[in-house]
Amino acid sequence: MSERNGVLITLEGCDGCGKSTQAALLCERLAACGLPVGPSSAPGAVIREPGGTAAGEAVRDILLHGLEALAPWTETLLYAAARAELVEHVLLPELGAGRVLVLDRFIDSSLAYQGFARGLGIDAVLAVNAPGLRGLLPDLTIVLDVDPVVGLARAGNAPDRIEAEGLDLQRRVATGFAAVARRFPERVRLIDGFRDIDLVAASVRAAALEAVADAGLRLGG
Ligand code: TYD
Repeated sequence: MSERNGVLITLEGCDGCGKSTQAALLCERLAACGLPVGPSSAPGAVIREPGGTAAGEAVRDILLHGLEALAPWTETLLYAAARAELVEHVLLPELGAGRVLVLDRFIDSSLAYQGFARGLGIDAVLAVNAPGLRGLLPDLTIVLDVDPVVGLARAGNAPDRIEAEGLDLQRRVATGFAAVARRFPERVRLIDGFRDIDLVAASVRAAALEAVADAGLRLGG
């Protein structure tokens, strides 16, 4: 792995947990603290998974909008492939340049959705992702904890392939994230996402600023 001076913060949770909204708010707030947030090509921006590179966005399309059901390991390897591309071309260079990156989903989504909810095993899914991760794990992972019933209702009337699978899957995903949080207590924080948006944002920001301070980055203006 290349030398890294930046900070990697990931937001996670089941579908409709509010992480995309919170990721955008977090970027705004960290940038307002004078931190070099987002990739240097798009300062202030959230990076999303699967996606974040041209190949990753193409893989996202197969994963989320393809017509055929995918075998669980096919799905897992496609997420891992999009991730390997992001690690190599975006995350390692940007972290090496000292940027603070906020990701909307990362490895823990694969652990919760494919490893736990699809029953492939958290260890097995981590193992196939490991070569592409190149040793990179988040400094901080925030899991927004929301009742899956509320999450699916928020996900709205144009569900992607995974949302369309319904509540049973989302319940297993929520249990999967709880298992991931127990497995990696040093970096994963569960935050109650079923509160006023500003209260959730304040909790997310406090956790992120702690991670930035732990990483020794100086806050500017
Ligand atoms: P998301 O970005 O939350 O979709 P949207 O932008 O429509 O809210 O995530 C896409 C879907 O992919 C979501 O259902 C979770 C799923 N997913 C996995 O199953 N495994 C993974 O490793 C990742 C990154 C996402």
